[in-house]
Amino acid sequence: MICYKPILFSAVQPSGQLTLGNYIGTMRHWSAMQNNYECLFCIADLHALTIQENKNNLKESILDTLSFYLACGVDPNKSIIFIQSHVYQHSQLNWILNCFSQFSELFRMTQFKIKRNIKKNSIKNTNAALFNYPILMAADILLYQTNVVPVGRDQKQHVELTRNIANRFNSLYGNVFTLPEPLITQYGSKIMSLLEPNKKMSKSDVNKNNVIFLLDDISTVALKIKNAFTDSEKPSKIYYDKVKKPGISNLLEILSAITDKNIDVLLKELEGIMYSEFKKIIVDCLSKFLSKLQKSYQNYRHDESYLKKIAYEGALQSQIKSKKTLQNIHDKLGLISLV
Ligand code: TYM
Repeated sequence: MICYKPILFSAVQPSGQLTLGNYIGTMRHWSAMQNNYECLFCIADLHALTIQENKNNLKESILDTLSFYLACGVDPNKSIIFIQSHVYQHSQLNWILNCFSQFSELFRMTQFKIKRNIKKNSIKNTNAALFNYPILMAADILLYQTNVVPVGRDQKQHVELTRNIANRFNSLYGNVFTLPEPLITQYGSKIMSLLEPNKKMSKSDVNKNNVIFLLDDISTVALKIKNAFTDSEKPSKIYYDKVKKPGISNLLEILSAITDKNIDVLLKELEGIMYSEFKKIIVDCLSKFLSKLQKSYQNYRHDESYLKKIAYEGALQSQIKSKKTLQNIHDKLGLISLV
């Protein structure tokens, strides 16, 4: 008897350097998930075009991101790893889904509002792709009949939109699309900025002291953690409370993720220690974790021909799968096949 595993799809946008937030929010789970799901891990380079970068940076970022996937334990023998622009079906389905999406629902997307505000207040400076971006994300997910999408909390609304678009399409044309579920963990799904723990840690933050990048050197990490915002409660006490203690709670989530210990266990171990001591422990654990990850990353990153081979093979495999879905959609819509 053939036993099919549920399908898992996830992606990262190669715009700038990956952060500890990206790792904790999603990438750290990928390696183990390969055993229980049929996995596709995509490098969403077309998404990165919404932020118009210098083209050499983009090339580097794509290969950097691919190297990090491998360093995080994604195994090309178990999973499909591919670059979004290599599989034209994504752009095709993107257009089709545009015809099934409402302007008003896109306008409600929090990420769009945040990005538009970062671009300093104007529709004039905002490219249309930034607005349409969640539809491309829906196409990514729906092309593969995905069951689950492991993401950070900031992407939950986009997965919900994906379900709405799929439902709308299915109600007109039958069960064409599987409805995907977001996979979001209770802790670590929204790692916050180090100096402003009420906002998300983000690749694009102008203040780099807010962010731990996966390629930060250890002395930089130590300084960033040393300066991370805590609070002035006297006497100082370490406990988890996102409202009263956003800084400490964020540091606890970081420590929990990189040590793989749950927060209650950590709180017992940390009982009675000062914030400075707590921060030293975090630096120590982060240093061990990052140096191992960076070493593995460097090994992959130096071998571009291997990276290109992985991307080539991944593209061939995802093309086969996505062509099947797209053909079915074309038939339903009444488009005429070439053959
Ligand atoms: P991106 O590149 O902004 O982020 C990649 C993943 O990292 C998560 N993440 C975080 N998790 C916890 N704390 C944080 N501070 C943090 N910052 C980022 C994000 O939630 C995401 O899971 N649109 C997506 C990329 C994408 C995608 C897809 C994802 C394109 N197509 C299809 C899933 C399925 C994005 O820009 O993620």
